[in-house]
Amino acid sequence: MTLVVTGGAGYVGSVCAQHLLDAGHDVVVVDDLTTGHEDAVPAGARLVVGDVAEVADDVLGAGGVDGVIHCAARSLVGESAEKPAKYWHGNVVTTIALLDAVCRHRVPRLVFSSTAATYGEPESSPITEDAPTRPTNTYGATKLAVDHAIGTYAAASGGELGAVSLRYFNVAGAHAGAGSALGERHTVETHLIPLVLQVALGQRDEIAIFGDDWPTADGTCVRDYIHVDDLAEAHLLALDLLARGDASVIEKAGGHLVCNLGNGTGFSVLEVIEACRRVTGHPIPARVAPRRTGDPGVLVASSARARDELGWKPTHTDLDGIVADAWAFARSRAAG
Ligand SMILES: NC(=O)c1ccc[n+]([C@@H]2O[C@H](COP(=O)([O-])OP(=O)(O)OC[C@H]3O[C@@H](n4cnc5c(N)ncnc54)[C@H](O)[C@@H]3O)[C@@H](O)[C@H]2O)c1
Repeated sequence: MTLVVTGGAGYVGSVCAQHLLDAGHDVVVVDDLTTGHEDAVPAGARLVVGDVAEVADDVLGAGGVDGVIHCAARSLVGESAEKPAKYWHGNVVTTIALLDAVCRHRVPRLVFSSTAATYGEPESSPITEDAPTRPTNTYGATKLAVDHAIGTYAAASGGELGAVSLRYFNVAGAHAGAGSALGERHTVETHLIPLVLQVALGQRDEIAIFGDDWPTADGTCVRDYIHVDDLAEAHLLALDLLARGDASVIEKAGGHLVCNLGNGTGFSVLEVIEACRRVTGHPIPARVAPRRTGDPGVLVASSARARDELGWKPTHTDLDGIVADAWAFARSRAAG
């Protein structure tokens, strides 16, 4: 198949693009390089530099596109509170332009990078797709709006468009392929594992723990870490499901299936720091700071639907293994 990966110069998109290439697909990456890196686009993929909203019509209008994996987004929670317009335009308006182009050019498949942030503070754990969606930040609200928009476009397409929204929990680890290492290179890093590893690399003095009085076993927040390679495989399985002639699962879902993606196991902030200490051999000083507004105490996915409907099963469930992959990538970047 020929597949367009938006945001394919970023962390998740580049790994998805690599998995698609490895599976024998042709890949076109669309990325404006605002948070992505040209050299993260895997060899073999064609890069179109531009804003999705501006170039989608041309890229899809060229014809022969079998599907779109839409990873491009603005995704900094803190910034989304300060600059809501950047997020409503960057995530929602941009995706509407993409959806218009998808429908205009009759692209039959779309897989979207949604997020656990659509749920907000969960009432119970693990979180299923039927849980209430009450985002506690602007980023999550924009992603939920996109999920709704995709659902309505798919429903109105009369079966021409099938879509899957994958609600990622905390993506982690790195892809180590032949000749290419792909991992987290966010200029503004907000994710726990790369931040802790920056301490081990001497790039930061200590790691802040936001609250140690949560109702969890050790008092620190619990999150569900999913390896980026497992995540990328779920995209391929979603495309397979959408490509099947008997896509009854998609039909039953009204053309748009929503699936959580996580390991189904939670690890606390302290457990992650301990894993980083074990893997790096560095003491990694940590300091307790006040809780952050809008941070849920526990976010763990039920991935039963992804398992049942996509046939997906995570293979990297060991926290030390996930950290070790991230550490190998971080060290190789630091070494230049
Ligand atoms: N990393 C995570 O833990 C996580 C968790 C849940 C959901 N997500 C979602 O996964 C997706 C990828 O996240 P990531 O961590 O790889 O982020 P990233 O910033 O590394 O990648 C996003 C890419 O999209 C590009 N981009 C952004 N807006 C664009 C636009 N309008 N036109 C063209 N290119 C554009 C950026 O340049 C970048 O290369 C995002 O949609 C994010 O919301 C990520």
